[in-house]
Amino acid sequence: MQNGNDDQIRKMARMWSLFSSPLRPDLDDIGYLTARLGDAGLQRGLILGSTPELVDLLNRRGCAVTIIDNNETVIKAMEILSQTNWAQVQIVCASWLEEQEALHGAFEVILGDNPLLFIRYPEDWHKLLGILKRYLVTDGRIIMRGFFRPVVPVAFEPFVEASLNRLSCINTEEPSEEDMKVFANEISIIRLGTALTALDAAGIICGQTRNRRIDYAREKLAPLFPDAPFDEIIEKVLYPQTGRAGELVPRSMPEWQEAARLFEEVGFALAAGPPQTREGFPDVVRCFTAVKR
Ligand SMILES: C[S@@+](CC[C@H](N)C(=O)[O-])C[C@H]1O[C@@H](n2cnc3c(N)ncnc32)[C@H](O)[C@@H]1O
Repeated sequence: MQNGNDDQIRKMARMWSLFSSPLRPDLDDIGYLTARLGDAGLQRGLILGSTPELVDLLNRRGCAVTIIDNNETVIKAMEILSQTNWAQVQIVCASWLEEQEALHGAFEVILGDNPLLFIRYPEDWHKLLGILKRYLVTDGRIIMRGFFRPVVPVAFEPFVEASLNRLSCINTEEPSEEDMKVFANEISIIRLGTALTALDAAGIICGQTRNRRIDYAREKLAPLFPDAPFDEIIEKVLYPQTGRAGELVPRSMPEWQEAARLFEEVGFALAAGPPQTREGFPDVVRCFTAVKR
């Protein structure tokens, strides 16, 4: 577990506020989750990680919320970014892989914004899905967003070029709010690109390759956007390298079909959402529902 003081918490909240879709859930993603939750009353839901949009979603429905997250600083930072009151949220500051027997059979729904990205495929995915199955009631559901290995491999340099082309239309002298949205979105796209072009055959992200991608993208972007407010986004969203203290290390992006087999093997029936259309990587980002059999 990692702790933080107020200054670290504020810095962390600032950093997370600079991340954009696809690293963060957007309105479409929240729309999918909301539709999959359905209209029936929900008593109790678990969230893996402390994504504020997900806490807000369950809080607004009057559902009792539990969060499991192993980083206290992130939890407190996410609470700052949330729009609802967390006074009643039960916070379990622990690894998802440490089974909490007190939570067996406790939840109708488990939500997560890309938690599986951060644990090793397939061994820890298998272990975690087994634990989550025990946390769910009969017919309980997991509803998640995830990143999956592109079926057609993506090359990083053209990927960055395409992003730079899209960025060429923004006004760097007097950027509008829309310009800043486009910029934040493109930097988050490039950040995802550093991982999805550093995958081995098994879907494990190679940290060294990813760091080389980060260096390459930074060298391209930094001279074009040297000043505020752009430089802060590049520094905070794109630059953190794999292995740097405090960085949330992305580990796994298996192919969707393989991941789907693993869910079935553990005992979930999958209802996949359609892959989302994104610039340069159409089949990577997916929301999906897995119902306990
Ligand atoms: C689930 S993801 C959420 C990121 C997401 N894309 C978002 O925008 O909210 C990140 C969170 O998971 C937590 N986390 C990562 N690995 C974890 C693990 N093995 N056990 C518990 N929490 C973990 C991190 O501390 C972080 O707060």
